[in-house]
Amino acid sequence: MSKATASGITAGNISTQRVKLNNGQEIPQVALGVYKAPNDGSTENACKWAFDAGYRHIDSAARYMNEESVGRAVAEWTKANNVPRSEIFITSKLWDADHDKAAAAVEDSLKKLQLEYMDMYLMHSPGTMGAEKRLEAWKALEEAVDAGKIKTIGVSNFDVEELDHLLANCRIKPAVNQIESHPFFAHEELREACFERGIHIQAYSPMAQGQALDRPEIKAIATKHGKTPAQILLRWGVQHGNIILPKSLTKHRIEGNAQLFDFSLDNDDMDALDGMDEGLKVGKLGPAGTSQPPSPGGTRPGSRRSSGSGGLSGNKLQMSSS
Ligand SMILES: NC(=O)c1ccc[n+]([C@@H]2O[C@H](COP(=O)([O-])OP(=O)(O)OC[C@H]3O[C@@H](n4cnc5c(N)ncnc54)[C@H](OP(=O)(O)O)[C@@H]3O)[C@@H](O)[C@H]2O)c1
Repeated sequence: MSKATASGITAGNISTQRVKLNNGQEIPQVALGVYKAPNDGSTENACKWAFDAGYRHIDSAARYMNEESVGRAVAEWTKANNVPRSEIFITSKLWDADHDKAAAAVEDSLKKLQLEYMDMYLMHSPGTMGAEKRLEAWKALEEAVDAGKIKTIGVSNFDVEELDHLLANCRIKPAVNQIESHPFFAHEELREACFERGIHIQAYSPMAQGQALDRPEIKAIATKHGKTPAQILLRWGVQHGNIILPKSLTKHRIEGNAQLFDFSLDNDDMDALDGMDEGLKVGKLGPAGTSQPPSPGGTRPGSRRSSGSGGLSGNKLQMSSS
């Protein structure tokens, strides 16, 4: 067991740092993202390097067309290292064009991943087929949970209205909403709305796809902690309680992006990073969101960090290290 720090973040490591979801399942707080990763040996190697570096969570999607590579990496690495499949957390996603054939899409992902069950399966976005088809698709995902084919279901790129419509009509609540979130586009209002509904945030593009790593203000915080700019952006997400999904196919970056649990950003750092939201949305999907200018004190109103913990407890969100 590891110790709780003053910031409320438990000092663990990438293998042990977990977040408890609203269905009781624990999810590793850091995943390797594999968007734009080809369906070949490069993605297989990236997943294996990640597992060697302690990652236990991969974020893929049918749309990324690399589930076969992810599946091969899981099968080969767990066998070679004598690690049970249950130690690895695998996410895939239902693509928008498949809302009317969700059950078949689940089977297809399971086959490509060579898995008997997926730990998490998300609706990639609200899609374009309309609310009725979206609910039909959700019902199919609920049935896949009943059948043991998926452990946890959630959504991605949903706005508050879409979430509330689903919450009012579902049997199983979504555990997460996967949305873009990084200091330059924090998505604070939507993050707050999800936290209030007991829905965890999975933050995609947590390094803004590398577009702002050379900013002097980020470099200054990195120098202060002897860390890289990427580690500063990722640690900001961790301290806000986000599940983060940094993507890389580069071995030394995969390893570096895992070194997030041997330091903490202090209040000054967090205030400075919280004040950098400028609406720099790097992804095409998802709600536009609002950027909030910092209050005179530095922290944006309603900022999660201002609650003094990395996540909420009670019926809401919990982080643990086991
Ligand atoms: N649900 C959705 O709609 C959605 C949308 C977007 C993303 N996602 C998920 O979130 C994951 C991450 O998002 P993302 O891929 O958009 O962006 P990201 O993780 O913020 O950035 C990835 C980019 O940063 C580079 N990089 C990685 N580590 C670095 C480091 N330490 N220093 C400098 N550059 C570094 C990578 O290059 P190399 O690979 O060359 O190292 C890649 O070009 C995706 O892979 C996917 O799993 C989901």
